[in-house]
Amino acid sequence: MEKQIVLLPGDGIGQEVIESAKKVLESVTERFHHTFTYHTHDIGGAAIDKHGTPLPDDTVRACQQSDAVLLGAVGGPKWDQNPSHLRPEKGLLGIRKQLGLFANLRPIKGFDQLLHASPLKHEVVAGSDLLIVRELTGGLYFGTPSERRQNGKEVVDTLHYKREEIERIVDNAFQSARLRRKHLTSVDKANVLESSKVWREVVEEKKADYPDVEVEHLLVDAAAMKLITNPKQFDVIVTENMFGDILSDEASVLTGSLGMLPSASLREDGVGLYEPVHGSAPDIAGKGVANPLAMILSTALMLRHSFGLDQEAAVIEEAVQQVLEDGYCTGDLDVKGGKVVGTKEMTRLVLERVTEQD
Ligand code: NAI
Ligand code: MG
Repeated sequence: MEKQIVLLPGDGIGQEVIESAKKVLESVTERFHHTFTYHTHDIGGAAIDKHGTPLPDDTVRACQQSDAVLLGAVGGPKWDQNPSHLRPEKGLLGIRKQLGLFANLRPIKGFDQLLHASPLKHEVVAGSDLLIVRELTGGLYFGTPSERRQNGKEVVDTLHYKREEIERIVDNAFQSARLRRKHLTSVDKANVLESSKVWREVVEEKKADYPDVEVEHLLVDAAAMKLITNPKQFDVIVTENMFGDILSDEASVLTGSLGMLPSASLREDGVGLYEPVHGSAPDIAGKGVANPLAMILSTALMLRHSFGLDQEAAVIEEAVQQVLEDGYCTGDLDVKGGKVVGTKEMTRLVLERVTEQD
């Protein structure tokens, strides 16, 4: 298989972990005889410094012509005082919008070696393995009007969806559920919001197309509670933009570490942007101690979701699992009695296990 991959290292540890991801990908593609070509471009603060904008046209063009994009992270104190059009985050929101990435997938899986780092009880989190499918380009964060009125005495935000926007994210979630344990929980606020009533209608209509998937509806407040009291009841969760934003951060405590969480943002034709959930970690940037595993696991998502390379993705996930089982960790991971290593060594350990699996 031949693919064009754009690398957007961004800022801080983004630059460090993207190197690790590329090395792991190179090793996997070599083993399976695929040819991936990499093109590196600027985004975020790095792009502001070099080109005077967080999202240069050249970067957008390259991403539009690629089969998938890998992004490190953007942001840092250096640009915190900048006016809003010169903020690194503008680059990230801009590229998601420009590429039409409407589906944000966040798999949350507790690794046994890290469970004690979660503030939740071991027996509650052990074995939890779920996927949150969040609508990313509509809903409350994009609806208009969104403005202050009457000199700030009134304010309005708008939760707006076209039916087709709900249909495509619900389809994506059903398809994701099919690849997993075939259970879909649709989360809404249908007892109050009209948009949620339509959301629920769409899920009910779509059900007929996926008879093998079991469907459940939950109100968002109840879902928030169940996510941390009984996470094992969930397989795939599909929900509106803001609900998904909140629930996915909440769910991240199940794993006990930000440095382990990958994400995918997709559009219908399979083109996607893959990035770790964490940010640019300015406090540890340049020290060579960043945990590269979230970025590495993001490449596995790319192989699976953009290219259908399930076996290759599993090789990477298995290698990460084995490194943890062998007792290695980075400074952010609290592995009991763990051998703490830096970014480069962690990457080497993963590479070793990628090549060992035969
Ligand atoms: P952060 O995720 O960068 O860091 C939070 C804490 O976790 C820090 O102590 C950091 O050292 C640690 N950490 C995060 N990832 C790590 C890794 N891979 N290995 C080891 N330790 C890790 O969040 P924070 O500090 O709130 O934001 C820093 C900057 O990143 C800000 O400018 C923020 O806007 C930006 N940011 C960017 C995101 C993105 O590009 N998608 C997402 C979140 C924040
Ligand atoms: Mg968030």
